Amino acid sequence: MKIIKTKNYQELSKKVAEIISEQIKVNPKSVLGLATGSTPVGAYKELIKSNLDFSEVRSINLDEYVGLDGSNEQSYRYFMEKNLFEHINIKKENTYVPNGKGENLQKECEGYEEKLSELGGVDLQLLGIGLNGHIGFNEPDKIFGKNTHVVDLDESTLEANARFFDSIEEVPKQAITMGIKSIMQAKKILLVVNIPEKIKILEKAIYGDITPEVPASVLQLHQDVIVVYCEE
Ligand code: F6R
Repeated sequence: MKIIKTKNYQELSKKVAEIISEQIKVNPKSVLGLATGSTPVGAYKELIKSNLDFSEVRSINLDEYVGLDGSNEQSYRYFMEKNLFEHINIKKENTYVPNGKGENLQKECEGYEEKLSELGGVDLQLLGIGLNGHIGFNEPDKIFGKNTHVVDLDESTLEANARFFDSIEEVPKQAITMGIKSIMQAKKILLVVNIPEKIKILEKAIYGDITPEVPASVLQLHQDVIVVYCEE
């Protein structure tokens, strides 16, 4: 595991964008595993500024809220469009986000796993971390190992994500997420941590016991992880 500490969020965002850019330069047809939330927004801005060629890049997102379709401003599809896709030359048909409005969610999950293998797996997986140690929406649990699945969000996740909604009641209670198993199959993983409140859980994840109670701790078992973090 390679650990990089940056001075501040701006430097962190530049570093993350630089790692993603390198990946695309080395392999213009890269499959990027992408995340939403506050953490990657700065890196996405840097990528937009870079004028990098995304025309052959494929992207597949970690998760989506159940019940929201892509036109809903709170959906992760909408987030990706506004924060990245609309500003770069990626082909819309090469971008994948789970369909939270699907009639048969089980089928959606199975289809997502099929899509992952059709793409040949993820070359570079970008991850944020939740205050409870979640990656994707894999909440603390008794076991690791699930593929893409529907998850009940933890109370702490609902509270943390309420900032994006008018009230906590509006936060969907479920999401579709790539599983730990799906995430661990990525060839390279980039874990990004940007606020002081998360340093404790980051330390637990990278130096503590490997346990599904701290989902991110599984990353200790992956052979190619870069952690980029800052404390301010
Ligand atoms: C988002 C995702 C989540 C977030 C995590 C941190 O697609 O999968 O695991 O990365 O909740 O969120 P922020 O960055 O908003 O603190």
